[in-house]
Amino acid sequence: MSCYVKPIQCKELYEKLTRMTSTLTHSHAGFRIVRGLNLTALERCPWLLYFAPWGLNLHKEFKINRFLGKNILITGASSGIGQDIAMEFGKLGANLYLIARDSQKLQNASAKLQEKNPGITIKVFSSDVSHPEKIQKTIQEIADREGGIHTLINNAGILGLGLFESNTLENFKKVMETNYFGAVYATQAAWPYIKKSTNGHIGFVSSVAGYSGLIGYSTYSPTKFALTGFAECLRMEARDYGIGVTIVFPPDTKTPMLEYEQIHTLPECKALSKNAKVMTSSAVAQKFVQAIVQRQFEVVCNIESKIVRIMRVLCPGVYFKMVDGIVDKDRKKRNKK
Ligand SMILES: NC(=O)c1ccc[n+]([C@@H]2O[C@H](COP(=O)([O-])OP(=O)(O)OC[C@H]3O[C@@H](n4cnc5c(N)ncnc54)[C@H](OP(=O)(O)O)[C@@H]3O)[C@@H](O)[C@H]2O)c1
Repeated sequence: MSCYVKPIQCKELYEKLTRMTSTLTHSHAGFRIVRGLNLTALERCPWLLYFAPWGLNLHKEFKINRFLGKNILITGASSGIGQDIAMEFGKLGANLYLIARDSQKLQNASAKLQEKNPGITIKVFSSDVSHPEKIQKTIQEIADREGGIHTLINNAGILGLGLFESNTLENFKKVMETNYFGAVYATQAAWPYIKKSTNGHIGFVSSVAGYSGLIGYSTYSPTKFALTGFAECLRMEARDYGIGVTIVFPPDTKTPMLEYEQIHTLPECKALSKNAKVMTSSAVAQKFVQAIVQRQFEVVCNIESKIVRIMRVLCPGVYFKMVDGIVDKDRKKRNKK
C-alpha cells in the first residue's frame, strides 16, 4: 500500500480533521494538537497522517464526545451549578432537558443557554424532585416524547441550616426528600431508559458536607452523605449495563444558595469557612462534566477539599481538633466583645 499523500490531499484531510474536532471537547489535548499542526510538516511527511488517528488520540476524541445529540436531563438546572452543568453539556452539542420547580427561572436559564449555544435543543420542564409521582411522570414524558434518555444529572438541592436542637423533624424530612430521595426517584424513573442507551451516565452533585459533618449542618450534611453511599452502590451495579456514575463534591460555590447561606448560617460556620476559597459555579461544572466525559467516579474540586478529605480519613483526631479549635477560638472572641 502506498504511503504517499499529495499535499492537496493533505490539506483537505487537515481541514476535515479540524472541522470534525471543532465539535468535540475543546479542552482535550488532541484537539489542541490538531489545531496547532504545522501544515508544512504534514506536507513534507505525509505518512504522518497514517498515524494521525492514533498519535493524535482521535479515536479517543470520537469516543469522548458521546454526548453529541444525546438527551441529557438535569435537575435543578434553573440556576447556579445546574445551569452551568447544562452550559457544559451544551458546548458538547447535547440536547438539554432542564428540570426545576419555578417555570420563570427555567425560561430565563433556557434563554441564556440558547443564546450561547444557538444550534442545540433545549426544553424546560417544571417539576418537583421531592414528589415521586411528579418527577417520574416528567421523566417518562421526556423519554417517551424525545426518544430516550442518555444521561441524568441529579443536581437539585436545598439547604438546611441551624443547630440540631433548633430543627424540627419536618425540616430533616424536607431536606432529605429533596436532596436524597429526589435523586433516588429521578434515577429510578430514568434507569430503564439509560440502560437502553449506549454508554449512558448518571451524575450526582453532593458537597464537601457529603464527607465531613460540621456544626450547623445536621439537616443538610446527612442528605449528602446518603447521596455518596447511593452513588457508590450504583456505580458497581451500573457497570453491568455500561452506565457510568460520577459524583462531585463542591466546596462553597458562588450561587444563590451560598448567598442565602452566608446570611443565615451560624457564626461558628462563618468562622469555619472564613478562609476557604469560594469557587465559581462554572468552574465546578467544568470539572464535573470533564470527569463525566472521562468516566471518572469522584470529583473533589480543589486542593482545600482534598486536604479535608484526606485528613478526615487518615487522621480524624487531628481534623476534629482543628475544626473544634476554630469554633472555640471564634466563640471566645465573640464572648469578649
Ligand atoms: N452553592 C454551594 O456552595 C454548594 C456547595 C456544595 C454543594 N452544592 C449543591 O449543588 C446543588 C445546586 O445548588 P446551587 O448552589 O446551584 O443552588 P441554587 O442556585 O439554589 O440551585 C438549586 C436548583 O435546584 C432547584 N430545586 C430546588 N428544589 C427543587 C425541587 N424540589 N425540585 C426540583 N428542583 C429543585 C432550584 O430551582 P427551583 O427552586 O425553581 O425548584 C434550582 O434550580 C445542590 O444540590 C447543592 O446542595 C452547592
